[in-house]
Amino acid sequence: MQPVRRDLDFDLPQQLKPEDIGQWHPAGRHVSHFFNALSLFFPEGERFFIHSVRHYRGRITDPALQQAITGFIGQEAMHGREHVDFNNLMDRAGLPATQLDRFVGRLLERVKKLIPPSWQLGVTLALEHFTAILANVLLSRPETLAGAHPRMADLWRWHALEETEHKAVAFDVYDQTIGRGFRAWALRCFLLLAVTVIFMSLVFVFHLRLIAADPQARGLRGWARLVSFLYLRPGALRRIVLPWLDYFRPSFHPWMHNNRHYLTQIDELTASYQS
Ligand SMILES: [Fe+2]
Ligand SMILES: [Fe+2]
Repeated sequence: MQPVRRDLDFDLPQQLKPEDIGQWHPAGRHVSHFFNALSLFFPEGERFFIHSVRHYRGRITDPALQQAITGFIGQEAMHGREHVDFNNLMDRAGLPATQLDRFVGRLLERVKKLIPPSWQLGVTLALEHFTAILANVLLSRPETLAGAHPRMADLWRWHALEETEHKAVAFDVYDQTIGRGFRAWALRCFLLLAVTVIFMSLVFVFHLRLIAADPQARGLRGWARLVSFLYLRPGALRRIVLPWLDYFRPSFHPWMHNNRHYLTQIDELTASYQS
């Protein structure tokens, strides 16, 4: 699997009005803000992923993996750029996007200073697993985005497809540099546990901040629709539990979840946005 950088422009600032940012998903403002909260982590988070993989690039002798790293870096950079536009729309709608994005940046700068490169790569691996299993829900359950603003739906589907395409790159870099022994396995498992607790807590807090800042996101009905969306239908968080657990198998590899058939959608989806 060779990920390819696609320079796509979704032109979000022109295609959406700031007030759309709280209502682009048909399941309501609370669900829109759940996706919006995730978006706030991408620009800084993806820069961190690139940084952690680049650190080990010089030790990779396999030319195919070198090429995959190039594709991975290119894809994450494009995701970050489009999510900056996404997050700017939140700012224009009066939501505290810049403040929350800066928090993520400061946190990751601290992480870079506090933990060694092998741990940083392990954090990337864990978050790439997280994004890959969430992406799989999005691709396997089209109702996740049914009826959403078409630009937003395309942006999320593109991101999900490319996360799928490059889901094994950081893992293979870890495999070839940190290794496959017990210590390497224990480190990646420990980091998945730590990252899950920290990331889910932060998503929850960011989500609450966005809802609190949106005067139209009020009432119990919105919360009920959110809980239903996350745990019942399509049940994104319920559906990632088993694939999340697979990461703890010593023999785990991201392609053991073989969902590459979704990638046939990518050319058609991206054709109209390629610049
Ligand atoms: Fe990404
Ligand atoms: Fe990624």
